[in-house]
Amino acid sequence: MDFMQALQARESCRAYQDKPVSREQLLKIVEAGRLSPSGCNAQPWKFIIIDEPEAKAKMSDALVVEGGATGCPWRDSVPAFIALVEQPAKVMPAVKEYYGDTQRFAQGDIGMAAMNMCYEAMDLGLSTCVLGMCDQAKMEQYFGVPEGHEVRMVLAVGYSAEDKEPRAKVRKPLEEVCSFNKW
Ligand SMILES: Cc1cc2nc3c(=O)[nH]c(=O)nc-3n(C[C@H](O)[C@H](O)[C@H](O)COP(=O)(O)O)c2cc1C
Repeated sequence: MDFMQALQARESCRAYQDKPVSREQLLKIVEAGRLSPSGCNAQPWKFIIIDEPEAKAKMSDALVVEGGATGCPWRDSVPAFIALVEQPAKVMPAVKEYYGDTQRFAQGDIGMAAMNMCYEAMDLGLSTCVLGMCDQAKMEQYFGVPEGHEVRMVLAVGYSAEDKEPRAKVRKPLEEVCSFNKW
């Protein structure tokens, strides 16, 4: 499979087989995140693997935010999660000076890590879904995430129980999102 085929084939998975994912596999996925590029090479991330039953139950609860909304109604069937938490970034002085913020690149960095992790999972025969919404206070309470260290994404990881044929991609047309030499 070439890279464009992989881009077409990767898709968010929302139904998983009742089959565990090994720690070796989970660590390979994290390694793909760890090797990702980041602004000033700040690597402003921490990856928390959640694979034990008690921790998974807590993660399931944290995926329901205050008010009851969740992006993951199928959370109880997920074999493992990886939380991607933003860390304070050490950036070049000029970056901090210009933007007045050390965290300017951090969310983009975490997005890059997340994408590499999704493709490494795919290479291992696993499927993923990025989950953008979780309850920060619960993550701090349940997993000891330090206050103010935002959980930016949670990856659901497991063996897909969905149809084998990839869905057609729903994307904005190229001409809407791309231009040459001007807006
Ligand atoms: C930052 C982010 C947050 C997301 N949050 C959720 C979510 O809470 N629940 C969900 O089912 N999918 C979530 N997704 C998956 C998107 O819905 C999905 O990537 C998009 O619809 C494109 O579909 P595809 O991944 O199958 O190509 C999220 C994706 C990203 C990048």
